[in-house]
Amino acid sequence: MMTITKERKSQIHEVLDNSYQLLQSGLVAKAMNLVVNQLNETTKDLSQEVMSTEVREECLQHPISKLILQEPMTKHSFQKPRGYSGDATLIDYMYKLKSCSLDDSYLGREIYGCISSAGSVAAVRWRANHIAQSIEAFQQKQGRKIDVISVASGHLRELGYIKNADEKISRFVCIDQDVQSNQEVRSAYHKYSFLEIIDSSINYIIKNKLADQKFDFIYSSGLFDYLNDKVASKMIERLYGNLREGGEMIIPNFLKGISEKAYMETFMKWNLIYRNEEDMRALISDLDIPNSKQEIYYDDMKKVVYLKIRK
Ligand SMILES: C[S@@+](CC[C@H](N)C(=O)[O-])C[C@H]1O[C@@H](n2cnc3c(N)ncnc32)[C@H](O)[C@@H]1O
Repeated sequence: MMTITKERKSQIHEVLDNSYQLLQSGLVAKAMNLVVNQLNETTKDLSQEVMSTEVREECLQHPISKLILQEPMTKHSFQKPRGYSGDATLIDYMYKLKSCSLDDSYLGREIYGCISSAGSVAAVRWRANHIAQSIEAFQQKQGRKIDVISVASGHLRELGYIKNADEKISRFVCIDQDVQSNQEVRSAYHKYSFLEIIDSSINYIIKNKLADQKFDFIYSSGLFDYLNDKVASKMIERLYGNLREGGEMIIPNFLKGISEKAYMETFMKWNLIYRNEEDMRALISDLDIPNSKQEIYYDDMKKVVYLKIRK
C-alpha cells in the first residue's frame, strides 16, 4: 500500500495545527474554513484508500479531532449509529430539521453553525427542493395525477415541499433498506394514502421485482454516490424499464472535486463515489437512450451533477 511521505505528513499537520489554534482562539468560522479547504488542497491527489487510512489516522490522532467531533453532525457521521454512512438522520441535520442538543458543547454548536451552511450541505437542501420542484413541474405539464418512485427514499423530506400533493400524485412508491427510516416516513406522512413503502434494499429492483410497474417520475437522491459503476448502470437500466413513455428520471451524484471531500473522508468517515458529466454519461452508454433524451446539469453550488433522462 502507498504511504504518505514525511513532507506530506508535515503539511497535513501544519493545516491541523493552524486550524486548532484558530479554534482555540474562538475563530471558529476561520478555523473550519481552513481545515475543510486546506486539508482538501493538501491531499487532493491521494487515493481514497490512503485518505481513509493514513490521513484519517493523522487527523483523528491530532488534538483538533476532540474539538471537531463535538459538532453533532460530524459526530453522528463518525459514530454511524445505524451501522452505515449517510443515514437519513444525518441528512436531517443538513436539512436543518435536526440540530444541536442540550448536551452539545458551546464549541460543538458554533461549529455546527458554520458547517451547516457549507456548500455541499446547502447542496443537499437544494437537491431535495429541486426534486420537489421537478415533480411539481412535471405534473403540471401532464395535467393529471402522476405515479412517482423514490429509490433510497430515506425520510422523504422532499415530499414536504410539494404543495397539495394529494391533488398531484396518485402513487408514490418509496424503497429504502433502512426500516427505521421507513417508519419515520410512515409516521410523518400518514395522511397521504398514495404512499407505498417497500422495506428493501435495491436488490429488489436489480432482481426485477418491479418489472411489471410503470412510473411517470423516477428519482434516486443520495444513493448513486455509493454505487459502483456496474451496479449504478444496472440500476439505471432497470429503472429506465420502469419509466412510462413521456416520463422523466433524475439521478443526482456528488461532483468530483468538491472541497469538502477530505473533511468527510477523515473526520466524518464518509466515503462517496464522486462523478462528473463524463462518468454520468458513461453509466448509460450501453443503454439505447438517444442523446436528445439525456441532460446533464448542476446545482447552484456546483457540488452535485444531475443526470436527467426522458423517455
Ligand atoms: C444519503 S441518504 C438519502 C436519503 C434521501 N433520498 C434524501 O435525499 O434525503 C441515503 C439513503 O440510501 C439508503 N440506502 C443506501 N444503500 C441502499 C441500498 N443498497 N438499498 C436501499 N437503500 C439504500 C439509506 O438507507 C439511506 O436512507
